[in-house]
Amino acid sequence: MDRLTIRTPDDFHVHLRVGAMLTAVAHFTANQFGRAIIMPNLVPPVVTTAHAVAYRARIAAALPTSSSFVPLMTAYLTEDSDPDDVAAGHAEGVLTACKLYPAGATTNSAHGVRDLSRVFGVLAKMERIGMPLLIHGEVTDPEVDIFDREAVFIERVLSKIIAAFPSLKVVMEHITTSDGVAFVESAGANVGATITPHHLEFNRNAMFRGGFRPHFYCLPVAKRESHRLAIRRAATSGAPKFFLGTDSAPHRIGDKESACGCAGIFNAPFALESYAKTFEEENALASLDAFASVNGATFYGLPLNEGTITLERSGSEVPATYGEGADSVVPFHAGETLDWKLLTAPTNFRV
Ligand code: DOR
Ligand code: ZN
Repeated sequence: MDRLTIRTPDDFHVHLRVGAMLTAVAHFTANQFGRAIIMPNLVPPVVTTAHAVAYRARIAAALPTSSSFVPLMTAYLTEDSDPDDVAAGHAEGVLTACKLYPAGATTNSAHGVRDLSRVFGVLAKMERIGMPLLIHGEVTDPEVDIFDREAVFIERVLSKIIAAFPSLKVVMEHITTSDGVAFVESAGANVGATITPHHLEFNRNAMFRGGFRPHFYCLPVAKRESHRLAIRRAATSGAPKFFLGTDSAPHRIGDKESACGCAGIFNAPFALESYAKTFEEENALASLDAFASVNGATFYGLPLNEGTITLERSGSEVPATYGEGADSVVPFHAGETLDWKLLTAPTNFRV
């Protein structure tokens, strides 16, 4: 097979940032996806419906007016989040979901949640109105080994959220472990997970190959090979609980190559080519459409996109960097050639 046409896909987890970085990166996501769930971890974070309206306008302004890309906005849950504002934003079609960051778990998560009981009012409301809760699933307890933080989160926190709110739609974002796969598989149909291209393609050894390699550092951190194999099986199975979320998270080169480097991998320019690589290696190209274009929209209750995109086996050369000097960003697969190439931008999108 040298060409693969699938329904126009969506990215259910992306960081578009603000300012010059937003302008530099937004078009990559818009060129690959019909819609994307936009992460709210800005400084200051996107907490209210009004913040999300303003951020959505900034995203639109960063794209050509001809773009049919639809940003799906999220609100960052804080202990002071107002259940009525969140519900009103959802009813108005501004807010698609809320994001739960345990305080201190990752980039710009300082405003996140320390005491879960303080967001129970919002969660109860979300459960009633069918609004999805997106979770960064890592405990922040420094006593817990960084490679165990996802598994411990499932045991200590996620299982409690699901017991307290059994009908709440929950997406465990960017799962990295066999524990995450098993938990999602054993939960009800209201629990799903996104999977990134990078966690599918490398394990934790990539960070230490011949020296420390900061461009392979992200959170949750990549785990050992057996976990990577588990998420590859889940993603390529076609099972409806697992869907595409790139977690593309650009940082300027100096913020990665630093004594205290930022977590995040910029995979937006070749996200689909990268997923196609994994699916082909697993002999599962026939499941790419379900993972990339059907399962997420169905989980969220969104209409499927109506257009298509086509990938061709003609090769994509990934640049070593994007941008100039201190403002440059190193992409995932920098300097490599990927087998697949996206031929057509998303077309014929219908809300
Ligand atoms: O690697 C990551 N980068 N993980 C996250 O959870 C946040 C993201 C970012 O915003 O840089
Ligand atoms: Zn993220």
